Amino acid sequence: MGTEVTEIQGIGHRVKRKEDDRFIRGKGTYVDDVKLPGMLHMAVLRSPFAHATIRSIDTSRATALPGVVVVVTGELMAQHNLAWMPTLSGDTQAVLVTDKVRFQGQEVACVIAEDPYVAKDALELIDVDYEALPVVVTPQQALDPDAPLIRDDKEGQTDNHIYHWESGDKDATDKAFDGADLVASLDTFYPRSHPAPVETCGCLADVNPATGRATIWMTSQAPHAIRTVFALVTGLPEENIRIISPDIGGGFGNKVPVYPAYVVATAASLLLGRPVKWIEERTENLISTGFARDFHMHGELALKRDGTMLGLRVSLLADEGAFHADAQPSKFKVGLFHIVTGSYDLPVAHVVADGAYTNKAPGGVAYRCSFRVTEASYLIERLVQNAAYELGMDPAELRLKNFIDKDQFPYKSATGFVYDSGDYHKAMNLALEKIGYDELRKEQEGAREEGRLLGVGLASFTEVVGAGPSKDYDILGLKMFDSAELRLHPTGKAILKIGVKTQGQGHETTFAQIVAEELGIPPEDVLVQHGDTDNTPYGLGTYASRSTPTAGAATAVISRKLRDKGKKIAAHLLEVSEDDVDFAKGRFFVRGAPDKAKTIQDVAFAAYTNFPEGLEPGLEGVHYYDPPNMTFPFGTYAVAVEVDGETGEWKVRRVVAVDDCGVRINPMIVEGQIHGGLAEGFGIAAMELITFDEAGNCIGSNFMDYLLPTAWETPRFELGETVTPSPHHPIGAKGVGESATVGSPAAYVNAVIDALVHLGVKNIDMPLTSAKVWEAIQAVGAEAGG
Ligand code: CDP
Repeated sequence: MGTEVTEIQGIGHRVKRKEDDRFIRGKGTYVDDVKLPGMLHMAVLRSPFAHATIRSIDTSRATALPGVVVVVTGELMAQHNLAWMPTLSGDTQAVLVTDKVRFQGQEVACVIAEDPYVAKDALELIDVDYEALPVVVTPQQALDPDAPLIRDDKEGQTDNHIYHWESGDKDATDKAFDGADLVASLDTFYPRSHPAPVETCGCLADVNPATGRATIWMTSQAPHAIRTVFALVTGLPEENIRIISPDIGGGFGNKVPVYPAYVVATAASLLLGRPVKWIEERTENLISTGFARDFHMHGELALKRDGTMLGLRVSLLADEGAFHADAQPSKFKVGLFHIVTGSYDLPVAHVVADGAYTNKAPGGVAYRCSFRVTEASYLIERLVQNAAYELGMDPAELRLKNFIDKDQFPYKSATGFVYDSGDYHKAMNLALEKIGYDELRKEQEGAREEGRLLGVGLASFTEVVGAGPSKDYDILGLKMFDSAELRLHPTGKAILKIGVKTQGQGHETTFAQIVAEELGIPPEDVLVQHGDTDNTPYGLGTYASRSTPTAGAATAVISRKLRDKGKKIAAHLLEVSEDDVDFAKGRFFVRGAPDKAKTIQDVAFAAYTNFPEGLEPGLEGVHYYDPPNMTFPFGTYAVAVEVDGETGEWKVRRVVAVDDCGVRINPMIVEGQIHGGLAEGFGIAAMELITFDEAGNCIGSNFMDYLLPTAWETPRFELGETVTPSPHHPIGAKGVGESATVGSPAAYVNAVIDALVHLGVKNIDMPLTSAKVWEAIQAVGAEAGG
C-alpha cells in the first residue's frame, strides 16, 4: 500500500452532501416507503370540539364496514392501562379520550383497516355524542379564577396554572431599576406557529406475535429516548423494542414528542399480531402535533442616560395547550429563557415565567430553537431597539456600547449561564459594513424628507446549544450526553454510528468529515449510520442544534482514541518506539524522517493481520461524550426594508446575516442551515400565524390558511462569517442549525418598525401582514391628527 498524500476533505471543506445522491433521485426511505406483508392501516378520529364531554361513542357502524379490522377507543386502551401516557415534560396526556376532549383535533378513536382509504371512510361512521363545554383559548382567560378547569383528570389540580418559575436576582434588579435614568418597556406576543416539516409524522409498528419483539419505524428525532419511554409505558422489555427512524423529511422540533397514534398503532399491532401503519395527514399535523411559541412577554430594560444598560426585568406567560407535552430539560421549566440577557453585559436580571393550560393542542416544542431561546432572543432585541429610540441613540451604537467584550469570556450571565466564547463587536461591525449601514441611514434621512419609508433593523443574538452537560440537563431523568461508535475495517474503510439523528441537516457528510480530519480517511470512505436503536449507541437525539456540540465531539474523541491505538500498530510496522511516531493527514511517520511512514489504511489492515503481541486486535471503539458546557454561537443580522405607507406592504431590500458558529465543519452545509433559518424567520415575521376563534377552532389547519413563504417571496440572503472557536469543544465547533430562526425574526420586525418609528409606531406584533402595518400607520396618524 502506498504512502502518497492526497487532499482529504476534512473540516472546512465544502463537501457535497453524500445523502443527496439518494434524495434527489427519489431513492430515500421514509416511513411511508416501508411496506410489510399483512400490513394494516390506521386512521385517527379527531374531535371537532375544543372542550366537550364525551357522552358516548358508538363504533358499530364503523366496525361493520367491510375491510375494517377493529375500532380502538379510549375504553379499549384503558383496559390495557394505556389510555394515558407520560409527556416529555413530566405531565400526562390522553392517548385516546376516556372522559372529555380538551382541544380541537384531539385523538378520540382509531380505525384499523385493510387499506388506508377504508380506515378513513370508517371514521365518518363512528358516532360520538359530545356535550360542549366552555372553551379557554388564551392563557390570560385560563388564569381567570372563573375559568373552567381543563385538567380535572389531575389530582390536586384546581386551576389552569402549570408552573411558576424564576431566574436571576429580584432584589438586585429592583435596586438597579431604582437608580435608572430611563426604563424602556415592551409588551409583545410571539404567536403560535408550526414547524410544518414537508414530511408529516407517522409510524409503522410491527410486533412479532411469536417473539414479542416490537420493531417500530417512526419519524422520530430522538429514537433512543422514545424507546425508553415506550418500555416504561408499555412494560415491554427494552431490548425487545427496536425503533428505526429512517430518512426524515424535516423535523424542526415537530418530531420530538411522543404522539398518541404511535402508542395506539403499537398496541394494536401487539393485539392483532399484524403490522399497523399510521401516516398523518397535513391537516392533522397542523392541528394536533407540536406547535411552537405562543408566548406573551413583558420586558423592561433599565438604562443610564448615556445608554449603559443596568438591568433587565422580564415576565412571561406561556400557552402550553391542554397537555404540557414539549420536551423540556427538567431543571428549566420554561426552557432556556435564561438567555434573555442576550449579548449584553447586563449586571442583573430577573425573569418570571408562568405556564397555563388552554383548550388548544399541546405546544411549545423546540421549533428550531433550544427550548424557547427564540422567544427570549426576540424579546431582548425588540426591547433594545426600542430603548435606542427612547434614548435618541442609534440602535447599532447602543448595542456596541453594551456588548459583552471579547476579553470577558468565559462570561457568567446575570442568570448564571457561562458563555464559552464570543466576539460580538466583530460580528456586528462586519454586518454593518456589509449592509452599508451608514449610507443606509443617510438614505433614510433623505427618504423621510420625500415621504418614503425606509427602515434598517438589527438583531444580535447569542444562542445556547448543545445540551448537556448531564449534571444540569436531563429529560425525564435521561441525562443529555451523546455518543459515537467508530469501526475501521481491514481495507481502511469506516462505519461511524452516532446517537443523534439527522432530519436533513447532512450528518452523513459532516460527521464523516470529522473522521476525515482526525484520521485522514476520505469522507466518502466513512459510512455514517444513525436512527436505529439496535445499531447505534444511546443518545438523546437531534433537536436544539445539539448534534455537533455533543455527538460531533464524541466523533472527534473516538477518532482520536483509534488514532492513539493506530500509533502503536504503526510503531510496530515501522519498527520504532511509539514515542517516535507522529501523525498528520492520514499518515503515521517517524519523527524527523517523514518519508518513513504508514498510512491509516496500512494501519487498519495491520489491526487485523499484523498487530503487535499483547495488543487487542481490531480498530474500533465507542465514546459517550458529556460536554463540560453548552456552546454559545452568535451573530448579527441586518435587514433593510421599504414600506408602502399607502398599503402597509413591506418589501425586503437586503438581508445580511453574519454568523459565528466557531469552526465550520462544512461551510456549504452551514450556509444551507442559515438560509433555511432566515427563510423560516422571514415566514414567521411576515405571514405565519396559527390562531383560534372563540370556540377553539384552529384557524390555520391547512396551507391555504397557514401561509409559509415560497421561493417567490423569500428575500435574497447575503452571508458573512466570523470564527470564534468554542474553547471546550474538541474541534472548536458550535451548533448552528437553529441560529437564523432564533436570531432573524427580530431583525425583520425591527426593520419595519424602524421605517415607521418617526411616525410614532413603536410596536407591531408578528406576523406583519400589510393590513396590520397599515392599521398601525393609521392609528398613529389618527392619534397625531387628534
Ligand atoms: O443538531 P443539528 O444537526 O440540527 O444542528 P447542528 O449541530 O448545528 O448541525 C447542523 C448541520 O451543520 C450538521 O450537519 C453539522 O455538522 C453542520 N455544522 C457544521 O458543519 N459546522 C458547525 N460549526 C456546526 C454545524
